[in-house]
Amino acid sequence: MLARIATLSLTAVFAHADVHVPTREIAAGVQMPVISIGIGGLETANASAIVSNWLKLGGRGIDTALVYRDQNVVPQELQKAGIDRKDVFITTKIPGCDSATASVEYDLKQLQTDYIDLLLIHFPKGDCAKAWEVLESYHSKGVLKAIGVSNFDKKSMESLMKTAKVKPAVNQIELNVLEYDAEALAYSESLNITVEAFSPVGRSGHSGDIRDNKVVKGVAASHNISTYQVALKWIIQHGRLLTFQSSSAEHQASDAAIFDFELSDSEMKALDALHGGSLMAPIYM
Ligand SMILES: NC(=O)c1ccc[n+]([C@@H]2O[C@H](COP(=O)([O-])OP(=O)(O)OC[C@H]3O[C@@H](n4cnc5c(N)ncnc54)[C@H](OP(=O)(O)O)[C@@H]3O)[C@@H](O)[C@H]2O)c1
Ligand SMILES: *[C@@H]1O[C@H](CO)[C@@H](O)[C@H](O)[C@H]1NC(C)=O
Ligand SMILES: *[C@@H]1O[C@H](CO)[C@@H](O)[C@H](O)[C@H]1NC(C)=O
Ligand SMILES: *[C@@H]1O[C@H](CO)[C@@H](O)[C@H](O)[C@H]1NC(C)=O
Repeated sequence: MLARIATLSLTAVFAHADVHVPTREIAAGVQMPVISIGIGGLETANASAIVSNWLKLGGRGIDTALVYRDQNVVPQELQKAGIDRKDVFITTKIPGCDSATASVEYDLKQLQTDYIDLLLIHFPKGDCAKAWEVLESYHSKGVLKAIGVSNFDKKSMESLMKTAKVKPAVNQIELNVLEYDAEALAYSESLNITVEAFSPVGRSGHSGDIRDNKVVKGVAASHNISTYQVALKWIIQHGRLLTFQSSSAEHQASDAAIFDFELSDSEMKALDALHGGSLMAPIYM
C-alpha cells in the first residue's frame, strides 16, 4: 500500500502537464494555435526530439522552414505518434522570393502532405511581388490554407501591399521583451496582420539577458512563475502569436502553461518599457 502511494505521488511529480494551447483566426476560416514549437533555431539537429515531445504533450502547432533541412521530421513524428495530418497546424517557409514554385513544391514533398496550413516568405529577398502571386495561386487552389511573410520590415511590407490581392495573414518577426522592430510591429498590426514572434525567449541570450532581467524576475516572483513564462505571456497577452524552441519536455510544458493567469496592466507596462525599439543583430533562421 505504501509502495503504491509512493508510486502515485512520483507520477504526479514527474508527469508533464499536458499543454492546452488556444487558437486564433489568422485568416478567414483558418485557426492557428497561438503557440507553435519551432525546429529552427539552435537545435535543428534535435528536431525529432523537439517535435516528438511537443506532440506527446498535446502541442499541435509546428514551425519549420525549407532552410532548416528538417521538414521530413514532421511526417515521421506524426506517424510515430499516430496523429493525423489534419490534427496539426504546420507553418513552413520558402527561402526568400526567388524560385517560389520550386520551393513550395519542395516543402510539400518534404512534409509529405498535399496542403500547408501557413506558408511564409522567410525573408524579403528577390522579387517578392512575383513570389506573392505564386503563393496567391496556391492559396486559391487550397494548397496553402494561409500565406504570410517573415522578417518583413515596414518598407518591405508596404512594397508587397502595392500588388497583393490576398493580404498576408501573418508577419513572423523576431520579438521578445528586450528586442524587436517597433515600426514593423506597429505597421503590420495597423493592417490587421497577425504578428507571430520568433526568438520569444531571446534565443539563449542572443537578445540580451531576459532570464536575469530585474523587471522580468520581479513579475515572475509575484506570480510564482518562471521568467520564460513571463516573456511568453507578455507576447500572448498583447494578442500576438509565437513560436518558441525547446528540446526539453519539461521546458515545453512549463513554457506553454501560461493560460491560467493574467499579468496586470502595470506589469505589462513595465515589460513594455524594457525594449530598445530596434533589432540589435537580426537573424533569419
Ligand atoms: N523566421 C525566422 O527568420 C526565424 C528566425 C529564428 C527562429 N525562428 C523560429 O522560431 C523558433 C524559436 O526561436 P529561437 O529558437 O530563435 O529562440 P527561443 O525560442 O527564444 O529560444 C530557444 C532557447 O530557449 C531555451 N529555453 C526555452 N524555454 C526554456 C526554459 N523554460 N528554461 C530554460 N531554457 C529554455 C531553449 O533551450 P532548451 O532546449 O534547453 O529548453 C532554447 O535553447 C525557432 O525554432 C524557429 O522555428 C524563425
Ligand atoms: C482581423 O483579421 C482577423 C483574421 O482574419 C479577423 O478575424 C478579424 O475580424 C479582423 N479584424 C478586423 C477589425 O478587421
Ligand atoms: C510556486 O510554484 C512551485 C513550482 O511550480 C510550487 O511547487 C509551489 O508550491 C508554488 N508556491 C506557491 C506559494 O504557490
Ligand atoms: C535533444 O533532446 C533530448 C530529449 O529532450 C535531450 O535529452 C538532449 O539533451 C537534446 N540534445 C541537444 C543537443 O539539445
